[in-house]
Amino acid sequence: MWKLSFLLVIGLLEIQAAVDEIFAWNELSFDWPNNEIKDEAIKSGQYVPENNLPLGLDRWKDKLFVTVPRWKAGIAASLNFLPLNSPINKTSSLIPYPSWKANTLPESGQTPEENQIVSTFRVKVDACDRLWVMDTGLADILGEGKQVSPQAILVFDLKTDKLIRRYNLKPTDYKEDSFFANIVVDVSADKCDEAFAYLPDLGAYSLVVYSWSENDSWRVKHNFFHFDPLKGDFNVGGVNFQWTDGVFGLALGPQQETGFRTLYFHPLASTREFSVSTQVLKNKTVATDPHSYYLFKIEGNRGDLTQASASDFDEKSNVLFLTQLNRDGVACWNPKKPLNPQNLDLVVQDNQTLIFTNDIKIDSDRNLWILSDKMPAFLYKGLNPSEVNYRIFKANIDELIKNTGCSA
Ligand SMILES: *[C@@H]1O[C@H](CO)[C@@H](O)[C@H](O)[C@H]1NC(C)=O
Ligand SMILES: *[C@@H]1O[C@H](CO)[C@@H](O)[C@H](O)[C@H]1NC(C)=O
Ligand SMILES: *[C@@H]1O[C@H](CO)[C@@H](O)[C@H](O)[C@H]1NC(C)=O
Ligand SMILES: *[C@@H]1O[C@H](CO)[C@@H](O)[C@H](O)[C@H]1NC(C)=O
Repeated sequence: MWKLSFLLVIGLLEIQAAVDEIFAWNELSFDWPNNEIKDEAIKSGQYVPENNLPLGLDRWKDKLFVTVPRWKAGIAASLNFLPLNSPINKTSSLIPYPSWKANTLPESGQTPEENQIVSTFRVKVDACDRLWVMDTGLADILGEGKQVSPQAILVFDLKTDKLIRRYNLKPTDYKEDSFFANIVVDVSADKCDEAFAYLPDLGAYSLVVYSWSENDSWRVKHNFFHFDPLKGDFNVGGVNFQWTDGVFGLALGPQQETGFRTLYFHPLASTREFSVSTQVLKNKTVATDPHSYYLFKIEGNRGDLTQASASDFDEKSNVLFLTQLNRDGVACWNPKKPLNPQNLDLVVQDNQTLIFTNDIKIDSDRNLWILSDKMPAFLYKGLNPSEVNYRIFKANIDELIKNTGCSA
């Protein structure tokens, strides 16, 4: 028994050492053109520093993109990046992307700019140097809730920082309760024009598929997109709350000989993981046919307290990573093994620095990026500005899974 707990302690120490804290803020700051503009924005209520919560991230070369959704009024800019060229300043200011103008809400009566970003939760860098942005178009979500522009997919060319496509979702893609807060992109670097994007609708329990070549979208329904009524109770960072969020975390497995991938997915208020082949999703006829019900699979149950927001897949190690909201950490699972509580391993855990691991992303150098942001306290009781509230970590994947059941 003593030996076992000793080994556990050593294991945990090794685990923590594998993770580097790259950014840590009490409150976010932004790279304003000058102090007068910033002071004016504060005076007019256009900028309320404590209302700005980082939520999603992804990396492309020297840019780490960070989203700040318009939960409340006073968001400086919703899509931003942090420069990663050294030396890194841990409290760096966010730089709006592609510009301040694109991130400024239009005055009433003005039509939004073509490249306008109103409110985004998650973004995705693809293998073709493009940034895909899911814009809900909704400002002041918890307050008055103003639909400033239609819910849309925006795609930027990262080499030129130009908007190369804007696709407004069709009325048949959404319902009254729809909420699109995530996007994953299915593409290979040699076939950039054959891209598909998958958008989970966590509010109306469906998945919207977008085809780049057809410039068309369709809505896929399935029972597995719904939340589990017994798994909607959360305790995170000392805050208790109940959520009904459906399908949210998506991750694509490796390309198979057929040319298709497995899409792993889970509702947020659930401890189960499901999957479906992209062969089903990409074919509009098959995807929207109720007879396709049995083409969706149950991978298994991860066990108590394993509710996850984000997930991402590392092809080289064949490992799926999942945030662990109720456990202040991140877990891994290798799909070569059946999914059950024994085959789900925590790779990091810390009840101070990893409170609400909101988003994770794997970059092209096989680093896992983790963003923790104490979102429940932000939403329900307010954060303490005299302590660190938001953190971004980076970890080498091989180091992370070493000594876990996930490594081969
Ligand atoms: C780090 O960034 C913050 C916010 O932009 C700034 O106030 C601070 O002076 C910077 N620190 C260094 C050492 O450059
Ligand atoms: C895609 O479709 C939308 C409307 O559904 C249209 O506004 C847009 O111009 C189209 N884009 C391309 C590249 O065809
Ligand atoms: C979609 O699936 C249907 C039924 O299996 C098939 O007839 C059709 O050719 C497929 N379409 C495409 C574009 O693959
Ligand atoms: C945090 O974790 C430490 C070490 O496992 C434990 O001693 C402490 O009680 C925990 N604190 C809370 C608030 O859960």
